[in-house]
Amino acid sequence: MTPQITVIRHPLIQHKLTLMRRVETSTAKFRSLMTEVSMLLAYEVTRDLPLKHDLIKTPMAAMQAPVLAADKKLVVVSIMRAGQGILDGILQLIPSARVGHVGLYRDPATLIPIEYYFKVPHDLEDRDMLVVDPMMATGNSAVAAVQRLKQTNPKSMKFLCLLAAPQGIAHFHDQHPDVPIYTAAIDEGLDEHGYIIPGLGDAGDRLFGTK
Ligand code: URA
Repeated sequence: MTPQITVIRHPLIQHKLTLMRRVETSTAKFRSLMTEVSMLLAYEVTRDLPLKHDLIKTPMAAMQAPVLAADKKLVVVSIMRAGQGILDGILQLIPSARVGHVGLYRDPATLIPIEYYFKVPHDLEDRDMLVVDPMMATGNSAVAAVQRLKQTNPKSMKFLCLLAAPQGIAHFHDQHPDVPIYTAAIDEGLDEHGYIIPGLGDAGDRLFGTK
């Protein structure tokens, strides 16, 4: 299986991402930009959602009009805590989506992810799943979260992030070649603490103002 990565280069996304990267961008602005960028990314990631036709009436005439076909709603799984930022944007666009949360923290010494929370809807076999985390750095959290989520047997899986490092992509592709990655940019690399360079810093801290 050939691993897939899609870099979504829409000018609005790239412009807003640059604003997010800037060190002087405030927490409030960062948060609203994260919502906006996530909505734009979601537009691309959901491009292949199937449609069916319903008979409706406009004020002028009856017509067969397209509506989303999925009987079972999309499930969006946020990797806590920074995934919350992307989740909020997607839910504005797809309010009926179901939601799951995976809590992982990175051991600062080993950078290995440790699970501290896991809650997802039970009936996942018939649902498409979108796993979200803004930063794919080492890829360790993404790999571990997807590994865990595969045990729930979703119908399909995609992974959505804002920024990815080449090391993270390689690791993820190695472990999960069947899960396509969507990102707004691929950055140069990682520093010795596993942060993306040039990146945007700690996405959770910037989103929640914790630093
Ligand atoms: N997590 C972040 O929030 N930022 C990085 O650069 C890497 C991981």
